[in-house]
Amino acid sequence: MCGIVGILANKPVAIDLVDALRRLEYRGYDSAGVATLENGHLDRRRAEGKLRNLETRLHEQPLQGHVGIGHTRWATHGRPTERNAHPHMSAKVGVVHNGIIENYRELKAELSSRGHVFETDTDTEAVVHLVTDELDKGLEPIAATKAALAKLQGAFALGIIFAGHDDLMIAARKGSPLAIGYGTGEVYLGSDAIALAPFTDTITYLDEGDWAVMRRSGVEIYDEAGSRVDRPKIKSVASALLVDKGNHRHFMAKEIHEQPEVVSHTLANYLDMGSGTIAFPDLGIDLAKIPRVTISACGTAYYAGLVGKYWIERYARVPVEIDIASEFRYREAPLVDGGLAVFVSQSGETADTLATLRYCKAGGQRIASIVNVRTSSIARESHAVLPTLAGPEIGVASTKAFSCQLSALACLAIAIGRAKGTITPAKEAELVKALIEVPRLMSSMLHSEQQYEDLAQYLSKARDVLFLGRGINYPLALEGALKLKEISYIHAEGYAAGELKHGPIALIDENVPVIVVAPDDDLFEKTVSNMQEVAARGGQIILISDAPAEKCGCKLVAHIKVPKGHDFANPLLYAVPIQLIAYHTAVFMGTDVDQPRNLAKSVTVE
Ligand code: G6P
Repeated sequence: MCGIVGILANKPVAIDLVDALRRLEYRGYDSAGVATLENGHLDRRRAEGKLRNLETRLHEQPLQGHVGIGHTRWATHGRPTERNAHPHMSAKVGVVHNGIIENYRELKAELSSRGHVFETDTDTEAVVHLVTDELDKGLEPIAATKAALAKLQGAFALGIIFAGHDDLMIAARKGSPLAIGYGTGEVYLGSDAIALAPFTDTITYLDEGDWAVMRRSGVEIYDEAGSRVDRPKIKSVASALLVDKGNHRHFMAKEIHEQPEVVSHTLANYLDMGSGTIAFPDLGIDLAKIPRVTISACGTAYYAGLVGKYWIERYARVPVEIDIASEFRYREAPLVDGGLAVFVSQSGETADTLATLRYCKAGGQRIASIVNVRTSSIARESHAVLPTLAGPEIGVASTKAFSCQLSALACLAIAIGRAKGTITPAKEAELVKALIEVPRLMSSMLHSEQQYEDLAQYLSKARDVLFLGRGINYPLALEGALKLKEISYIHAEGYAAGELKHGPIALIDENVPVIVVAPDDDLFEKTVSNMQEVAARGGQIILISDAPAEKCGCKLVAHIKVPKGHDFANPLLYAVPIQLIAYHTAVFMGTDVDQPRNLAKSVTVE
């Protein structure tokens, strides 16, 4: 992962580099650094931990250079220490890198044998010595970089500056996204357009394999074969998306509270609210004829996809194959002719999801992606894009992106069912009405959060927490456990309620809270039996349900009431309490809610 930036300007760039890095912290925050050219010499400042540590360092020891690169790191190779922080440098070259250089061991062995001394545990340092080695042979920076790039294997976005070359930066992209921005007499480099938003809205995205020679007067772009290419300059909308926390203490709280609005926007994109029908975009495939849907994603997006499977199979009667992208990509799964493959991703850059997309594309599937970033790699490589209109999601723990992904998937299920004839016009009207009700019902759950604060105190004492759900609520249990563990660091597991007796019940005693996601639907009574099994063993039950507490026939630690909605829309409604439980528990425990340890928002490495 990691975020990289670069600026060629006519004034000191260090402060602007840090400003751009702040908007890239979602890509990692283990360490950060900047390097600039000071009177022709490379100089850098680096700091372990969050960006504010780098700011303090720069305050004490400012950098004055007018050309510079910056980096915020999510550690892959080497601990997150200052020594391993980017930029990595020799006397001749400074490099920032996002991705993994897969052949760094071979490169390191070869370069070490020729006298290069490695100082860090990172894969990136191999790039520094490789380019330096080519310069030592007498090549100019552009030729040296070109020669070095040809020897690199793996995924990378690189920003490189050179001692003695005040008007030069080289960028390269293979597998990791990279945007070039144009100002007046200034040029910029960033892992995404949001990083560059305050400086410019004129952006070029490098294509796979591209590398670019950047000067203040302009940018030349070359493809992997070394031919000069033109890539379009586009107007980025990122500047309109710059965000703050508003009146909320954390981005996560703000994003939870934005859900009624962004779900409403996303639904409006796929529904004709007036006529109560689906208004789904043409995916370029006859939905009536698709034999199978394949879904793949990672993390929270995978759980959204899992809800999608329940919806599509139940309402459209089409078999759905779903797998975590990191598994799917190497499984050599057979694909059926004429199949639709759906990829779900907030960032649109998740490396495993992108690899799975390419596998399915090569296997002749029609590719539709549900993404929040329309300019992302996943969106650009899809045949059809189903956008989620969540707006920028800053909190690392996904909330509003999840509910918007659910919204798009619910509409997809109706669209397929209508095309297949498994959903009649009357049923379509009923389901669309159910979805239209969601924003209002979600809102009603966001008015009072006192019960979550009380529950947070109780949960903060637990070492393990179990989440149970059955049927379409099973993915919600998985997502509830993921949310809690990622931001509170309490161990939590989600289980299918019926699976409890096959193992996890052994864990239950009076110290293990069991959170049950159980709407009053056709499976409620089955889940009640499982709750009684928990209660009989002293387990402490927290029920999230629209059913009255008496209906579960056992003592509850807490009952989180959810308003009664249509069963079809329940996953959208039950997303809210599981998010609020995790959020308030983490706040009570004093963890870093928006930037939990070891995580990153956009995962561009395998
Ligand atoms: C990371 C994030 C999660 C996200 C997952 C998939 O793990 O922390 O919030 O669900 O990646 O990311 P994507 O951008 O593909 O939805």
